[in-house]
Amino acid sequence: MEGLEAVKHSYGRAALKPAFFDRFYDIFLGSHPSFKPMFQNTDFNKQKQLLKTGVAMMLSHLEGKPVGTMTLNRIGESHSKKRLNIQPALYQYWIDSLVAAAKECDSQWTPDIERSWQKALRAGVDYITEQYDKP
Ligand code: HEM
Repeated sequence: MEGLEAVKHSYGRAALKPAFFDRFYDIFLGSHPSFKPMFQNTDFNKQKQLLKTGVAMMLSHLEGKPVGTMTLNRIGESHSKKRLNIQPALYQYWIDSLVAAAKECDSQWTPDIERSWQKALRAGVDYITEQYDKP
């Protein structure tokens, strides 16, 4: 996928900043009224670590690496209608929040990188939500 290398490097720079995952959850939880209640009992230290790996695995999937695809299959199942029931329309908030946090934390940010982030995360999210309705 075009721009994927740039996204990987941008993620590497952003994720090095201690504030990155905190900023993501601040922005994300404030972006839609249904989110805070979903994470009422969540251990955020653990969740931040899961997210860190989750994003890396999403990028690996887009590179065609089986370990990334296997991880997204598992996340797709856990987020599907029969389990966490995360409605597909909500994922745009996740994408926009992650891009906003990356923009704050990557000192080499450009409009091109922003477009590449949006495209990559959209492709990864589409793969996850393909599993939403599976029995
Ligand atoms: C609108 C978007 C999303 C919402 C509302 C959401 C919500 C949740 C909730 C409520 C949990 C359970 C937390 C707990 O156990 O306390 C969870 C777990 C998790 N989420 Fe998400 N999620 C979203 C998108 C994503 C995406 C795109 C990824 C992948 C990068 C992801 C990765 C995970 C992982 C790895 C877990 C731990 C459970 C598992 O392994 O499936 N989430 N999510």
